[in-house]
Amino acid sequence: MSNHKIGVIASGRGSNLQAIMDKVAAGVLPLEIAVVVSDKSDAFALERSKRAGIPSFVVERGQCAGKREFEEKLDGILRAHGVELVVLAGFMRILGPDFIARWPQRVINIHPALLPSFPGLDAQGQALRYGAKITGCTVHFVDEGMDTGPIILQKAVPVEASDDEETLSARILREEHKALPEALALWAAGKLSVQGRKVVIEN
Ligand code: GAR
Repeated sequence: MSNHKIGVIASGRGSNLQAIMDKVAAGVLPLEIAVVVSDKSDAFALERSKRAGIPSFVVERGQCAGKREFEEKLDGILRAHGVELVVLAGFMRILGPDFIARWPQRVINIHPALLPSFPGLDAQGQALRYGAKITGCTVHFVDEGMDTGPIILQKAVPVEASDDEETLSARILREEHKALPEALALWAAGKLSVQGRKVVIEN
């Protein structure tokens, strides 16, 4: 049986994409990254996918007439590559309800905080400014809200008194690189089901 196909959407550096690629290459994550799409033509994620021989595309919001056209283009590329699950790995835009309705429980996101704390942009800075002592990362299914969908898994890290955004982000990122492949492995094994707000993980 062939591996499940995922599509990754990334806006920047792509270290989470790399974490997935490394696990796939190591043979410990039974998935195929069928396509990578970025909304930024200079995203390093594109370079990473090219190096790995993964088809990659740029869809810039500014080149589209509106959000609908932008999302239709994304949708078209993902479908043309047989994608079953869309992985948002550092994608810095909100997908609209039309897109989400077309991919029910088929979009997952990684967020650099323990949701529902610190949704949206600059989650690490939010945690620091708030004075949180613990933060972390969350992998969740995406719904119509902003970072509100059912939680698949979370990993916590301490906030040290000496932290700035850079040191805290780096500590969280190390956990992201474990959490996202772990969540994908559970999905690939068919172990995730969504019941209301909750994700049930089969043993
Ligand atoms: C990661 O920290 C990810 O959690 C965050 O962007 C970074 C992307 O890093 N995503 C969000 O904030 C989404 N709202 P990467 O490009 O190296 O994977």
